Amino acid sequence: MRTVFWENNELKMIDQRILPARFEVVSYHAHKDVAFAITDMVVRGAPAIGAAAAFGLALAGHESASTSSDGLLADLKTAATLLKSSRPTAVNLAWAVDRILLALSQRERAGGEGDIDLIRQFVLDEAQKLADEDVEINKRMAEHGAALINDGDTIIHHCNTGALATVDWGTALGVIRTAHEQGKRIHVLVDETRPRLQGARLTAWELEQYGIPYEIISDNMSGYFLKAGQAQKVFFGADRVAANGDVANKIGTYMLALAAFDNGIPAYSVVPTSTIDLSLAHGGLIPIEERNTDEVLGIQFHGEPIAPKNARARNPAFDVTPNRLLSGIVTENGVVYPPFDVNFAKVIR
Ligand code: MRU
Repeated sequence: MRTVFWENNELKMIDQRILPARFEVVSYHAHKDVAFAITDMVVRGAPAIGAAAAFGLALAGHESASTSSDGLLADLKTAATLLKSSRPTAVNLAWAVDRILLALSQRERAGGEGDIDLIRQFVLDEAQKLADEDVEINKRMAEHGAALINDGDTIIHHCNTGALATVDWGTALGVIRTAHEQGKRIHVLVDETRPRLQGARLTAWELEQYGIPYEIISDNMSGYFLKAGQAQKVFFGADRVAANGDVANKIGTYMLALAAFDNGIPAYSVVPTSTIDLSLAHGGLIPIEERNTDEVLGIQFHGEPIAPKNARARNPAFDVTPNRLLSGIVTENGVVYPPFDVNFAKVIR
C-alpha cells in the first residue's frame, strides 16, 4: 500500500503519528486539512509531504466554487501558498506544488481549454504523475545505492526514510531494502531518532515488515558502534541539499556523520534530485524548522515525565551536515562524489 494515495475522490494517507501501535488510513477532502496534516506530521518525510501537497492542490481544485478558469486558478494559487507554508525545511514540498503550478501555466500558454472541470482533472493528473514518478525514482536510487552495500554489512540508519517517508519504497531505507532483496546479509542499527522517534517507531516497523534484521539504538550510541568497528556504513536521507552538497536532514544526522568521518566509515545521503536545491549556495541558507518543545519534554520514562514540570527545552527539527563529511550522495541518476558542486551537473537534468 502507498503512504499517500488518491481513491474515490479523496486523498488517503497512513497516519504516521500512531504507528506502530495502530495502522490507520485517514481520508482528506479539504486542502486546509492536508496542510494541517503535514504540519502535525500525519504524513512526514520529504517526498511524502511533496506528494501530499500535490494531491492537496487537487482537492483545492475540487473545493473551489469558482465558475471561471481565472477564479479557479486564483483559488489554486491561494491553496498553493498555504500548502507550501505547512513545513519549511524539506524543499520537496515547494518543489511539488510549484511543479504543478508551472504545468498549469504551461498548459494555459499552449492554449489549453479553459473548461474548469478539465483544469481540475489536469491538476489531479499532474499530482498522480508526480506520485507515480516518486516510486519509480526511489527504485532507481535503491539500485544505485545497493551497489555500495557489501554482504555482511552492518548499517547505521537515521530517522525514517522508508516507504512511509515517500510515496512507496523509500530513499535510504529503500537502498537497504533493495540490498536485502538482492540476498545481501545485512544488519541495521536503527537510531531511535529523538525527539519524535521516527527510527524506533517507523523504521523499526518497516524493517519488521521486510524481514530485515535490526536493533534499535539510542542516537548517542552511534559513535560507540562506529568506533568499535561494529558498523561498516551509514545511510540517511535528506530534506534539502544545497548546491555545494551540504545536507539538511533530521536532527542528529550531523553528529552521526561526524562520528562516521572520524572513524573512516563511509556516510551516504540518499535523495531524489528534487531534494537538491541549487538556488542555495550552502547549507547555512536552508531554513531550519523549530518545533514545539512538547516533542522533547512530552515523553515519559516508566510512566513519569522525563523532566521537571517547569523545564524549558529547544527543538530544532533538522541540522546541516557539511559536505566534507559525506562520502557520496545517491540519486536516481547515479551516485555523486565530491566535489558535489561540480558533480551535481552530471545527475541534474
Ligand atoms: O521531520 P520528518 O520526519 O519529516 O523528517 C524526515 C527526515 O528527516 C527524513 O530523513 C527525510 O525526509 C529524508 S528521507 C525521505
